[in-house]
Amino acid sequence: MVSEAFIRGLPKAEIHLHIEGTLEPEMMFEFAARNGVDLPFDSVADVRAAYEFDDLQSFLDIYYRGADVLQTEQDFYDLMWAYLERANQDGVRRAEIFFDPQTHTQRDIGFPVFMDGFLRAIADAEAEWGISAALILCFLRHLSGEAAVATWEQAADYHDAVVAVGLDSSEVGNPPELFAEAYALARAAGARSVAHAGEEGLPEYITGALDALGAERIDHGVTCEDDHALVERLVEEGIPLTICPLSNLKLGVFERLQDHNLKRLLNRGVKVTINSDDPSYFGGYIGDNYVAVAEALTLDQWDLVRLARNSIEATFLGPAVKERLITELETYVASLDQ
Ligand code: ADE
Ligand code: ZN
Repeated sequence: MVSEAFIRGLPKAEIHLHIEGTLEPEMMFEFAARNGVDLPFDSVADVRAAYEFDDLQSFLDIYYRGADVLQTEQDFYDLMWAYLERANQDGVRRAEIFFDPQTHTQRDIGFPVFMDGFLRAIADAEAEWGISAALILCFLRHLSGEAAVATWEQAADYHDAVVAVGLDSSEVGNPPELFAEAYALARAAGARSVAHAGEEGLPEYITGALDALGAERIDHGVTCEDDHALVERLVEEGIPLTICPLSNLKLGVFERLQDHNLKRLLNRGVKVTINSDDPSYFGGYIGDNYVAVAEALTLDQWDLVRLARNSIEATFLGPAVKERLITELETYVASLDQ
């Protein structure tokens, strides 16, 4: 077994992380108190006890209610700052971070409130720890394609402040094709594109995300294994999968971590990465995900270095910065091999 310290210290990127999913119960209480929001829980322990999910929808129902406590620019700042501080401790050098604007605009919280909070925290964290971060604007797929277009238009002042657009929320019954117009607009404005697909949904959702949305990475994508031709395509086109093992476990996508297909996909040449999704809800940050999978699937040092390298290659950083991070990774590994 590779040591936990080695795994946590690996220079890596996190590219599947919902900032609203980093709201720890302690923070939930703090924000609720300062904003005068009533919570349906008496204690932090009560909140944690409620985090037992049967599937994606049962999680989302609780998750969207939790986000109600986020109200002021300072709340969004504090949330982002706390995540980046934690990620830095896990060797994260680059984070590409999802946010759900519609969860906030629906509550009459405007783009400047959350965007200015996020961007200020990102700038401060970069100055403090040298960690690099970028934002991915996600459309909620339980809402309509027209609502996604309207959201992109509402975000006009911040188009240059997001690196990509994404698609999240309830997958089954909400296929990617419904969001083609919003993606076309965003891509025409220079945004890169990613989409959740194949978390619970059929492999067709992955193909749809690639073809209708021009997705450059697939978030989750674990159901691709049911379609051999699709797996070949992912390998040939070098499409990264942003896999979130503890999330898959908590939401019942795999019954046991030992059953996870991450290692099989890695061995078949798919550009697999490890990420935390919604760490405060799923019981672990990125380092915990790496450590849990290393143990459950008996990954060796080279698998783990491959996963860290994939994560850097899968970012939207330019080639020179990627190269610098890969050199940092190689230097780290070489120094420990001595
Ligand atoms: N939003 C936050 N976490 C998500 C997940 N795992 N799948 C879809 N939407 C999400
Ligand atoms: Zn996700």
